[in-house]
Amino acid sequence: MIIVPGPASKDLGFRIANVLGIEAAPIEFKRFPDGESYLRFTKNLEKEDVVIVQTTGPPQDINLFQLLLLIDAARDLGSKSVTAVVPYVAYGRQDKRFLSGEAISSKTVFKLLETVDIDYFITFDYHNPEILNYFKDHVENLSAIPSLANFMKGYNLKEAFSLAPDDGAIELVKVSSKILGGDFGWLKKTRDKVTGEITVEVENLDVKGKDAVIFDDIISTGSTMISAVKILKRHGARRVYAACVHPLLIGDAKDKILMEGALEIIGTDCVQSPVSVLSVAPVVAEALRRHFSR
Ligand code: R5P
Repeated sequence: MIIVPGPASKDLGFRIANVLGIEAAPIEFKRFPDGESYLRFTKNLEKEDVVIVQTTGPPQDINLFQLLLLIDAARDLGSKSVTAVVPYVAYGRQDKRFLSGEAISSKTVFKLLETVDIDYFITFDYHNPEILNYFKDHVENLSAIPSLANFMKGYNLKEAFSLAPDDGAIELVKVSSKILGGDFGWLKKTRDKVTGEITVEVENLDVKGKDAVIFDDIISTGSTMISAVKILKRHGARRVYAACVHPLLIGDAKDKILMEGALEIIGTDCVQSPVSVLSVAPVVAEALRRHFSR
């Protein structure tokens, strides 16, 4: 097996290779003056199981196109199989036509991926797993929530409370609360389809004196986390932490969440960011081992 770290997931690619005890095969990469990407494999891929690691967080369109180039070239160069590890798949949240005439971008992304022919596809906590059914290739939608919850166990939380900042994250806190051992709850969030502004409703939130962790798949602008932190604080939570799988953290999202009273933001390297303190490399390595030993 050859692990190829793509330009957007260099560190994660090397970490996966390290966990597997093999050497990663770096690529030669540059951007032409007009912005186009140049990619060149430096290792012979013939008859090899090639694993390309490339996330598609910001800048999404560039990272996505580089992923397509890498997969297509690996196939062309005579590899035995091509696996794509795409820990964050861009456009996952545009999973339907919220307003008439909109592009269903998440579907288009998978249609594009299908054109380059992938044998095995690994991602993490995909926003709407139902969309993955449109993708004919072999998909593994792994979760980083158990790793995040296990990591939070090291924080000696008092009566740990797992909070889902909207009903889309309820399944995440069901998992985390089992690991952290405390209760879970969720908020009811609605987002304005045009402005993107959110409104949150709360019912029966018993967090007084407890340590709370908010778990979400994505932190983008931070508005969802900010409102959840505010609500927890207002309801008397003792310590509040924000945990997420995909820390996109656009603009000053990180500072705004911390200023609202969260003690720390804990993210993974599904998207490399200043809060990516937890690596998903062991989980990916385990999935690869399982897949290739079949
Ligand atoms: C939405 O349903 C997602 O699960 C996240 O809650 C959302 O994408 C976070 O976005 P933002 O940080 O911009 O509120």
